[in-house]
Amino acid sequence: MNPLLNMRFTKPSLFRELGIVCLVLISAVWCSVSERKVCQGTNNKLTQLAQPDDHYRAMVRMYSNCSIVLENLEITNIQEYHDLSFLMSIEEVGGYVLIGINYVDVIPLGNLRLIRGHSLFDGKYALAVVANFHRNESLENSSINGLRELRLKSLTEILKGGVKISHNPLLCNVDTIQWLDIVQDDSDVNVSIGTDPQCIRCDSTCFNGSCWAPGPENCQTLTRLKCAEQCSRRCRGPKPSDCCSEHCAAGCTGPRATDCLACRDFQDEGTCKDACPRLMLYDPNNHQLVPNPNGKYNFGATCVKKCPYNFVVTDHDACVRTCSSNMHEVEENGIRKCKQCDGLCPKVCNGLGTGALVNTIAVNATNIDSFINCTKINGHITIMKMTFQGDVFTNTPSMDPVKLDYFKTVKEISGFLLIKDWPKHLKSLSPFENLEIIRGRTKHNTVSFAAINITHLEHLGLRSLKEISDGDVVVKYNRQLCYVDGSYWPKLFRSEKQRIRTENNAAMHTCEQQNNTCDSMCGEEGCWGPGPSMCVSCKHVSRRERCVGHCNLLDGDPREFISENVCLECDPECKILNGTSSCSGPGADQCTECAQFKDGSHCSRCARP
Ligand SMILES: *[C@@H]1O[C@H](CO)[C@@H](O)[C@H](O)[C@H]1NC(C)=O
Ligand SMILES: *[C@@H]1O[C@H](CO)[C@@H](O)[C@H](O)[C@H]1NC(C)=O
Ligand SMILES: *[C@@H]1O[C@H](CO)[C@@H](O)[C@H](O)[C@H]1NC(C)=O
Ligand SMILES: *[C@@H]1O[C@H](CO)[C@@H](O)[C@H](O)[C@H]1NC(C)=O
Ligand SMILES: *[C@@H]1O[C@H](CO)[C@@H](O)[C@H](O)[C@H]1NC(C)=O
Ligand SMILES: *[C@@H]1O[C@H](CO)[C@@H](O)[C@H](O)[C@H]1NC(C)=O
Ligand SMILES: *[C@@H]1O[C@H](CO)[C@@H](O)[C@H](O)[C@H]1NC(C)=O
Repeated sequence: MNPLLNMRFTKPSLFRELGIVCLVLISAVWCSVSERKVCQGTNNKLTQLAQPDDHYRAMVRMYSNCSIVLENLEITNIQEYHDLSFLMSIEEVGGYVLIGINYVDVIPLGNLRLIRGHSLFDGKYALAVVANFHRNESLENSSINGLRELRLKSLTEILKGGVKISHNPLLCNVDTIQWLDIVQDDSDVNVSIGTDPQCIRCDSTCFNGSCWAPGPENCQTLTRLKCAEQCSRRCRGPKPSDCCSEHCAAGCTGPRATDCLACRDFQDEGTCKDACPRLMLYDPNNHQLVPNPNGKYNFGATCVKKCPYNFVVTDHDACVRTCSSNMHEVEENGIRKCKQCDGLCPKVCNGLGTGALVNTIAVNATNIDSFINCTKINGHITIMKMTFQGDVFTNTPSMDPVKLDYFKTVKEISGFLLIKDWPKHLKSLSPFENLEIIRGRTKHNTVSFAAINITHLEHLGLRSLKEISDGDVVVKYNRQLCYVDGSYWPKLFRSEKQRIRTENNAAMHTCEQQNNTCDSMCGEEGCWGPGPSMCVSCKHVSRRERCVGHCNLLDGDPREFISENVCLECDPECKILNGTSSCSGPGADQCTECAQFKDGSHCSRCARP
């Protein structure tokens, strides 16, 4: 028998028209890349998130007419009566394929050629077919139904990861598959099937008796084990002239990089390549990177002129759904991009009264973790006895007061801040020391900031607070609290109607007796607590958020300049001068004289050759 009889090449090469068109349908985004639709896929593993019929409808919406699945293809919880014909459109999967706890007898993935395995199931498997059966128990009869045929007749390559097929008591034929033709050499393959006597053997014309299901159309197609020695990867037959281009995956219809069934790395206008055309090119004439008019972004395994709607560009010129953890989204020249964050990335979180915390009364042990790394809180914050003690009715444990430090990243609260209880070891509201603005868009009665009845509080310590946009301030019954009678409150207010109510805090003369008064470097407006870093404004100037007597203009190290009453350092390339200032601003182009060399208007460490 001629083994080549079983090598089928029904598909012509894939790529025709170009351009990328996206439309938003219900909840799924569809993008057509070179006529082929791309869909996102899922990452739910075997968890059941909905009733089987709703889950099935969500799958139909996600995968109908989809050729390329960017993430994982997870086929789970399919009942006997569900129609799976919509799976026939799928040709490539970027992550893994999971077929688990289904009760249908056939999984028709007849056009799936390639699994890339960018993410793996159980850390190892690019294809997992597990527990697809169901035992029907009735009084006088017990039977099993479940998966019998895994029709993957086009699957010829898995780029990364292994195969696990287990706990499918009715499954037939796949033990005959030569998995080494499909997976890479070092992959785990663990395939076991049932011993169902009803299994029909592979068609007699199948090479080496390997098939996915009965019938000559389901024989396994080999694209690797039978190749001529000259082939670098895959082939379409045994002759040296049958070798595929090294850029192909899964197989090919001819020798060129335009004849591939799928691309190993990237597909650019119908040609398989190892990289997309770069967006910036080096121009040797002026030693600079210049934009490449033919540059393209990576989108999955495709090169595109523009990222699809709702995708952002990474610094590696790839289209992604979300930026990685230390990056945030910005818009530049009409393109949404991921940019490195300066310090902590902006992160907006739900406060009390919004989102998941809509009915929550106070910050507590159950919700405090949702405030980690937040820079802006949409909603309000209430801290009260219940916060630390917990509450038996809502089954809330007591909270470790150290966790209040999570609020140190917060710069903005859109609602109000209400503090009615506070840990004994904290003499100030230091967890809120970086809070810059309380917007007061929601208020507690008329109040947007209150600290009440914290008998051990000695100073507020809100040294970054610059604005309370709306609502009144109440600071009462804090018997040891000093530094509250400063004239700074009106300066924070933005509306005529705002009022400050302070009473029954420490008496002014007691504070003075105990020397609990503002630092001598503070200006008239008072301070938030002791020391030169708690001033509302400085009498003279400030350096790194502390008030100081003067900047190092003419002496001292490092030499500085003044900008809006703040001392800032001169560039290290400026020459240190005595009797005159060493620089007039930041940067190596604002030095009075250079320490080393002058390169144009800049001071520099190196002489120009
Ligand atoms: C799939 O494509 C066919 C033919 O182009 C079209 O008739 C059908 O409405 C599409 N289905 C969905 C769910 O987009
Ligand atoms: C058990 O049920 C199956 C189908 O549900 C039926 O085909 C079979 O005849 C039944 N066997 C007995 C002994 O009732
Ligand atoms: C193969 O899978 C079975 C069932 O999950 C497991 O018991 C067995 O240890 C696996 N074998 C290997 C070599 O991983
Ligand atoms: C065909 O099957 C036999 C035994 O199962 C195996 O030894 C042989 O390597 C197979 N041939 C090819 C080309 O894979
Ligand atoms: C604690 O927080 C959880 C989650 O926000 C909430 O469900 C619960 O009601 C809260 N308990 C109290 C006493 O506020
Ligand atoms: C908080 O940010 C730090 C630093 O960026 C990061 O390492 C950490 O994983 C983040 N934690 C959470 C829960 O977001
Ligand atoms: C202050 O707190 C004490 C207990 O710590 C409580 O008994 C008292 O009623 C509170 N006073 C006000 C005005 O809330």
